[in-house]
Amino acid sequence: MDLFIDSEDGHRLFARKEGHGSTNILFVHGFPFNHTQWLPQLEELGEIATMIAPDLRGLGASGGPQEPSAYSMAAYSGDLNRWLDEAGWERAVLAGLSMGGYILFDFLRRNPGRLLGLILMDTHPFADSPETVEGRRRSREQVESGGTAAIVDGLMEKVLGVTTRSSRPELAGRVRETMLSSPAHGVIGALEAMAGRADNFDLVVDITVPVLVIAGEEDTLTPPGPTAEWASEIPDSRLVSVPLAGHIANLEAPERVNELVRSFVEYLTSVT
Ligand code: MLT
Repeated sequence: MDLFIDSEDGHRLFARKEGHGSTNILFVHGFPFNHTQWLPQLEELGEIATMIAPDLRGLGASGGPQEPSAYSMAAYSGDLNRWLDEAGWERAVLAGLSMGGYILFDFLRRNPGRLLGLILMDTHPFADSPETVEGRRRSREQVESGGTAAIVDGLMEKVLGVTTRSSRPELAGRVRETMLSSPAHGVIGALEAMAGRADNFDLVVDITVPVLVIAGEEDTLTPPGPTAEWASEIPDSRLVSVPLAGHIANLEAPERVNELVRSFVEYLTSVT
Protein backbone atom coordinates (compact mmCIF):
# COMPACT_ATOMS: atom_id res chain seq x y z
CA MET A 1 0.00 0.00 0.00
CA ASP A 2 1.25 3.51 -0.82
CA LEU A 3 1.21 6.04 2.03
CA PHE A 4 1.71 9.81 1.98
CA ILE A 5 2.17 12.34 4.77
CA ASP A 6 3.33 15.94 4.98
CA SER A 7 6.53 16.74 6.85
CA GLU A 8 6.51 19.47 9.48
CA ASP A 9 8.04 21.88 6.94
CA GLY A 10 5.43 21.04 4.31
CA HIS A 11 7.01 18.40 2.03
CA ARG A 12 4.97 15.48 0.72
CA LEU A 13 6.62 12.26 1.89
CA PHE A 14 6.05 8.77 0.49
CA ALA A 15 6.28 5.32 2.10
CA ARG A 16 5.42 1.75 1.19
CA LYS A 17 3.46 -0.32 3.72
CA GLU A 18 3.43 -4.13 3.60
CA GLY A 19 2.51 -7.10 5.76
CA HIS A 20 0.10 -7.85 8.58
CA GLY A 21 2.24 -9.45 11.28
CA SER A 22 2.07 -8.33 14.91
CA THR A 23 5.52 -6.68 15.11
CA ASN A 24 5.71 -3.16 13.68
CA ILE A 25 8.94 -2.37 11.83
CA LEU A 26 9.98 0.95 10.24
CA PHE A 27 12.76 0.42 7.66
CA VAL A 28 15.11 3.35 6.89
CA HIS A 29 17.17 3.14 3.71
CA GLY A 30 20.74 4.30 3.04
CA PHE A 31 22.44 6.76 0.68
CA PRO A 32 21.60 7.43 -2.14
CA PHE A 33 18.71 4.97 -2.32
CA ASN A 34 14.99 4.78 -1.59
CA HIS A 35 12.53 2.35 0.03
CA THR A 36 13.12 -0.27 -2.70
CA GLN A 37 16.38 -1.08 -0.91
CA TRP A 38 14.13 -3.04 1.49
CA LEU A 39 12.09 -5.01 -1.08
CA PRO A 40 13.42 -8.45 -0.02
CA GLN A 41 12.18 -7.75 3.51
CA LEU A 42 8.89 -6.09 2.47
CA GLU A 43 8.11 -9.07 0.21
CA GLU A 44 9.05 -11.88 2.60
CA LEU A 45 8.38 -10.81 6.18
CA GLY A 46 4.66 -9.93 5.96
CA GLU A 47 3.56 -12.90 8.12
CA ILE A 48 5.55 -11.75 11.13
CA ALA A 49 5.59 -7.97 10.68
CA THR A 50 3.67 -4.91 9.57
CA MET A 51 6.30 -2.83 7.79
CA ILE A 52 6.62 0.76 6.66
CA ALA A 53 9.56 1.76 4.45
CA PRO A 54 9.65 5.52 3.73
CA ASP A 55 11.53 7.31 1.00
CA LEU A 56 13.64 9.83 2.91
CA ARG A 57 12.97 13.51 2.12
CA GLY A 58 14.37 14.46 -1.31
CA LEU A 59 14.81 10.82 -2.41
CA GLY A 60 12.60 8.32 -4.25
CA ALA A 61 9.02 9.59 -4.49
CA SER A 62 9.32 11.94 -1.49
CA GLY A 63 9.45 15.67 -1.96
CA GLY A 64 12.11 17.66 -0.19
CA PRO A 65 13.64 21.10 0.08
CA GLN A 66 15.93 22.39 -2.68
CA GLU A 67 18.32 24.07 -0.24
CA PRO A 68 20.98 21.70 1.16
CA SER A 69 20.93 23.38 4.59
CA ALA A 70 17.36 22.10 5.14
CA TYR A 71 18.67 18.52 5.35
CA SER A 72 19.94 17.20 8.67
CA MET A 73 19.73 14.11 10.82
CA ALA A 74 17.20 16.01 12.95
CA ALA A 75 14.98 16.68 9.92
CA TYR A 76 15.12 13.03 8.82
CA SER A 77 14.40 11.71 12.30
CA GLY A 78 11.55 14.22 12.69
CA ASP A 79 10.05 12.73 9.52
CA LEU A 80 10.37 9.22 11.02
CA ASN A 81 8.53 10.38 14.13
CA ARG A 82 5.69 11.56 11.90
CA TRP A 83 5.57 8.19 10.13
CA LEU A 84 5.18 6.46 13.50
CA ASP A 85 2.38 8.89 14.43
CA GLU A 86 0.68 8.31 11.08
CA ALA A 87 0.82 4.54 11.59
CA GLY A 88 -0.51 4.88 15.14
CA TRP A 89 2.58 3.09 16.42
CA GLU A 90 3.46 4.35 19.88
CA ARG A 91 6.53 2.10 19.76
CA ALA A 92 8.15 0.09 16.95
CA VAL A 93 11.25 -1.76 15.87
CA LEU A 94 13.39 0.58 13.77
CA ALA A 95 15.77 -0.84 11.18
CA GLY A 96 18.36 1.32 9.43
CA LEU A 97 20.99 0.61 6.81
CA SER A 98 24.13 2.77 6.77
CA MET A 99 22.82 6.38 6.53
CA GLY A 100 19.52 4.91 7.77
CA GLY A 101 21.44 3.81 10.87
CA TYR A 102 22.98 7.29 11.33
CA ILE A 103 19.42 8.64 11.35
CA LEU A 104 18.34 6.04 13.90
CA PHE A 105 21.08 7.15 16.31
CA ASP A 106 19.66 10.69 16.07
CA PHE A 107 16.15 9.28 16.56
CA LEU A 108 17.34 7.30 19.58
CA ARG A 109 18.73 10.46 21.20
CA ARG A 110 15.47 12.34 20.72
CA ASN A 111 12.83 9.61 21.13
CA PRO A 112 14.22 6.67 23.13
CA GLY A 113 10.75 5.79 24.41
CA ARG A 114 9.43 5.00 20.94
CA LEU A 115 11.75 2.05 20.34
CA LEU A 116 10.93 -1.61 20.90
CA GLY A 117 14.14 -2.81 19.30
CA LEU A 118 16.79 -1.71 16.82
CA ILE A 119 18.26 -3.35 13.73
CA LEU A 120 21.49 -1.61 12.70
CA MET A 121 22.87 -2.81 9.39
CA ASP A 122 26.23 -1.89 7.83
CA THR A 123 26.37 1.32 9.87
CA HIS A 124 28.08 2.92 12.88
CA PRO A 125 27.39 5.62 15.51
CA PHE A 126 30.37 7.92 14.83
CA ALA A 127 30.53 11.37 13.20
CA ASP A 128 32.40 11.80 9.91
CA SER A 129 36.18 12.22 10.06
CA PRO A 130 37.60 15.43 8.49
CA GLU A 131 38.72 13.33 5.46
CA THR A 132 35.20 11.96 5.00
CA VAL A 133 33.71 15.47 5.25
CA GLU A 134 36.18 16.59 2.59
CA GLY A 135 35.15 13.64 0.37
CA ARG A 136 31.48 14.58 0.76
CA ARG A 137 32.31 18.17 -0.27
CA ARG A 138 33.94 16.84 -3.44
CA SER A 139 30.93 14.58 -4.11
CA ARG A 140 28.64 17.55 -3.67
CA GLU A 141 30.60 19.53 -6.26
CA GLN A 142 30.47 16.59 -8.68
CA VAL A 143 26.68 16.26 -8.28
CA GLU A 144 26.23 20.03 -8.66
CA SER A 145 28.03 19.99 -11.98
CA GLY A 146 27.17 16.53 -13.36
CA GLY A 147 24.04 15.39 -11.55
CA THR A 148 23.73 12.20 -9.47
CA ALA A 149 25.27 10.15 -12.32
CA ALA A 150 28.62 11.82 -11.61
CA ILE A 151 29.10 9.84 -8.36
CA VAL A 152 27.40 6.54 -9.18
CA ASP A 153 30.41 4.64 -10.62
CA GLY A 154 32.48 5.43 -7.54
CA LEU A 155 29.67 4.33 -5.26
CA MET A 156 29.15 1.00 -7.03
CA GLU A 157 32.64 -0.06 -5.91
CA LYS A 158 31.82 0.84 -2.33
CA VAL A 159 28.27 -0.32 -1.76
CA LEU A 160 28.41 -3.79 -3.30
CA GLY A 161 30.58 -6.67 -2.16
CA VAL A 162 33.07 -8.28 -4.52
CA THR A 163 30.83 -11.36 -4.88
CA THR A 164 27.84 -9.31 -6.03
CA ARG A 165 29.97 -7.24 -8.41
CA SER A 166 31.58 -10.28 -9.99
CA SER A 167 28.66 -12.71 -10.13
CA ARG A 168 25.31 -10.90 -9.88
CA PRO A 169 25.11 -8.42 -12.78
CA GLU A 170 21.32 -8.21 -12.59
CA LEU A 171 21.34 -7.09 -8.94
CA ALA A 172 24.26 -4.73 -9.60
CA GLY A 173 22.28 -3.21 -12.49
CA ARG A 174 19.24 -2.61 -10.27
CA VAL A 175 21.39 -0.98 -7.59
CA ARG A 176 22.93 1.30 -10.20
CA GLU A 177 19.51 2.26 -11.61
CA THR A 178 18.15 3.06 -8.15
CA MET A 179 21.07 5.37 -7.42
CA LEU A 180 20.78 7.04 -10.84
CA SER A 181 17.10 7.77 -10.17
CA SER A 182 17.88 9.78 -7.02
CA PRO A 183 17.25 13.53 -7.49
CA ALA A 184 20.35 15.73 -7.22
CA HIS A 185 18.84 17.99 -4.54
CA GLY A 186 18.10 15.00 -2.28
CA VAL A 187 21.57 13.55 -2.86
CA ILE A 188 23.28 16.87 -2.04
CA GLY A 189 21.03 17.30 1.00
CA ALA A 190 21.96 13.82 2.26
CA LEU A 191 25.68 14.56 1.79
CA GLU A 192 25.28 17.73 3.87
CA ALA A 193 23.26 15.96 6.55
CA MET A 194 25.84 13.18 6.89
CA ALA A 195 28.78 15.59 6.95
CA GLY A 196 27.16 17.68 9.68
CA ARG A 197 25.95 14.90 11.94
CA ALA A 198 26.94 14.57 15.60
CA ASP A 199 28.94 11.74 17.09
CA ASN A 200 26.51 9.40 18.86
CA PHE A 201 28.89 6.83 20.28
CA ASP A 202 28.07 8.00 23.83
CA LEU A 203 24.52 6.66 23.38
CA VAL A 204 25.57 3.11 22.70
CA VAL A 205 26.20 1.95 26.28
CA ASP A 206 22.79 3.23 27.41
CA ILE A 207 20.60 1.53 24.81
CA THR A 208 17.91 -0.25 26.79
CA VAL A 209 16.20 -2.18 23.98
CA PRO A 210 17.46 -5.32 22.23
CA VAL A 211 19.64 -4.60 19.21
CA LEU A 212 20.54 -6.73 16.19
CA VAL A 213 23.69 -5.54 14.43
CA ILE A 214 24.42 -6.91 10.95
CA ALA A 215 27.57 -6.42 8.87
CA GLY A 216 28.29 -7.86 5.44
CA GLU A 217 31.56 -9.82 5.51
CA GLU A 218 32.64 -8.06 2.30
CA ASP A 219 31.58 -4.59 3.49
CA THR A 220 34.60 -2.31 3.12
CA LEU A 221 32.83 0.86 4.37
CA THR A 222 31.63 -0.58 7.69
CA PRO A 223 33.48 -3.92 8.03
CA PRO A 224 32.59 -6.53 10.67
CA GLY A 225 35.81 -6.02 12.72
CA PRO A 226 35.33 -2.34 13.66
CA THR A 227 31.57 -2.93 13.88
CA ALA A 228 32.16 -5.55 16.60
CA GLU A 229 34.13 -3.00 18.64
CA TRP A 230 31.28 -0.53 19.09
CA ALA A 231 28.46 -3.09 18.95
CA SER A 232 29.90 -5.03 21.88
CA GLU A 233 29.29 -1.93 24.06
CA ILE A 234 25.50 -2.25 23.62
CA PRO A 235 24.05 -4.05 26.65
CA ASP A 236 21.59 -6.38 24.84
CA SER A 237 23.01 -6.86 21.37
CA ARG A 238 23.94 -9.60 18.98
CA LEU A 239 26.31 -9.00 16.05
CA VAL A 240 26.12 -11.20 13.00
CA SER A 241 28.38 -10.97 9.97
CA VAL A 242 26.82 -12.10 6.73
CA PRO A 243 28.92 -14.05 4.18
CA LEU A 244 28.98 -13.10 0.49
CA ALA A 245 27.50 -9.66 1.22
CA GLY A 246 28.95 -6.15 1.07
CA HIS A 247 27.51 -2.86 2.34
CA ILE A 248 23.90 -3.68 1.38
CA ALA A 249 23.69 -7.00 3.19
CA ASN A 250 19.89 -7.18 3.07
CA LEU A 251 19.85 -7.02 -0.75
CA GLU A 252 22.98 -9.07 -1.34
CA ALA A 253 22.09 -11.90 1.07
CA PRO A 254 18.33 -11.49 1.57
CA GLU A 255 17.58 -15.02 2.80
CA ARG A 256 20.18 -14.87 5.55
CA VAL A 257 19.13 -11.36 6.61
CA ASN A 258 15.44 -12.33 6.65
CA GLU A 259 16.28 -15.33 8.81
CA LEU A 260 18.12 -13.01 11.23
CA VAL A 261 15.22 -10.53 11.36
CA ARG A 262 12.76 -13.40 11.97
CA SER A 263 14.72 -14.75 14.92
CA PHE A 264 15.23 -11.24 16.32
CA VAL A 265 11.47 -10.63 16.16
CA GLU A 266 10.89 -13.97 17.95
CA TYR A 267 13.35 -12.91 20.64
CA LEU A 268 11.65 -9.51 21.03
CA THR A 269 8.27 -11.17 21.33
CA SER A 270 9.62 -13.42 24.09
CA VAL A 271 11.03 -10.52 26.16
CA THR A 272 8.36 -7.80 25.70
C1 MLT B 1 25.12 4.62 2.85
O1 MLT B 1 25.09 3.48 2.36
O2 MLT B 1 24.12 5.12 3.38
C2 MLT B 1 26.40 5.41 2.77
O3 MLT B 1 27.45 4.56 2.41
C3 MLT B 1 26.71 6.09 4.05
C4 MLT B 1 27.94 6.96 4.01
O4 MLT B 1 28.28 7.48 2.93
O5 MLT B 1 28.54 7.18 5.07
